[in-house]
Amino acid sequence: KRKVIIDCDPGIDDSLAILLALNSPELEVLGLTVTSGNVPARLGAKNALKALQMCQRLDIPVYIGEELPLERELVTAQDTHGEDGVGENFYEDVDAKILYGGVDFIIDTLKNNKDVSIIALGPLTNIAKAIMKDKKAFDNLDEFISMGGAFRIHGNCSPVAEFNYWVDPHGADYVYKNLPKKIHMVGLDVTRKIVLTPNIIEFINRLDKDMAKYITEITRFYIDFHWEQEGIIGCVINDPLAVAYFIDRSLCKGFDSYVEVVHDGVAVGQSIVDSFNFYKNEPNSYVLTEVDEKAFMKMFLKRIFKEHESV
Ligand code: BDR
Ligand code: CA
Repeated sequence: KRKVIIDCDPGIDDSLAILLALNSPELEVLGLTVTSGNVPARLGAKNALKALQMCQRLDIPVYIGEELPLERELVTAQDTHGEDGVGENFYEDVDAKILYGGVDFIIDTLKNNKDVSIIALGPLTNIAKAIMKDKKAFDNLDEFISMGGAFRIHGNCSPVAEFNYWVDPHGADYVYKNLPKKIHMVGLDVTRKIVLTPNIIEFINRLDKDMAKYITEITRFYIDFHWEQEGIIGCVINDPLAVAYFIDRSLCKGFDSYVEVVHDGVAVGQSIVDSFNFYKNEPNSYVLTEVDEKAFMKMFLKRIFKEHESV
């Protein structure tokens, strides 16, 4: 099994990514660290517990990390994910403890284990802080996957910026420039192709599981948002692709490149991918550009509804 920390800001699609990770036998999830992004971190941590509860995995610790971006003011995405971050279902709090000290948890886990990977599904604030505090700990890092950025595609926060890097552009840029390992950039170029449609929701509900009910509930608001804002029927679920790609490399293709993130001005949050190698810098990233979306969806449904033979 591969040991992973999931750093996240749940978030509807973060919640779905957690479900996928916990239903994947290849992974040993050592803990969830939460940062502010879609919602403030304290709210995100509650949503993380809810996802763990859905998988009966409340043994996995949930840590709150940084509650504010490094330099910018926090701007959440409660218009997209709902006031509560999970589609305005206002679930009761799960009866489990939320821990503090997410940044130290990341550092200690890296120090005490060999070959831990991190899958980051939110702004990179916790990771940036952890590198600032103890860069050496990252020598033990196996792989780093970041859902974020946009290469040849329109942004989702500005014409050029993707949400996670836009929320904390200083954090994102710091991680790109200081992480001693290559970053697998799972950006909008690939994640925008992952759409959970009402058809799929209808299908999973035939399986008549608590899980289908939960997924239907949390995605309803998100589906309405996509219809109203973009005229899309269904919702784009970005974060689960980062987990799926970590497990199965054949799902996506990309190329090595140097990447940095703009922190100020009109292009704030933009990921600058030097695909022509103008700067002659060593590549610090593997930027994904292609995805087999059907294979992803099959994997996602098969794993989450694993007991059902017809999936
Ligand atoms: C990213 O932003 C958030 O709203 C999602 O959870 C995802 O991580 C997509 O831009
Ligand atoms: Ca997220």
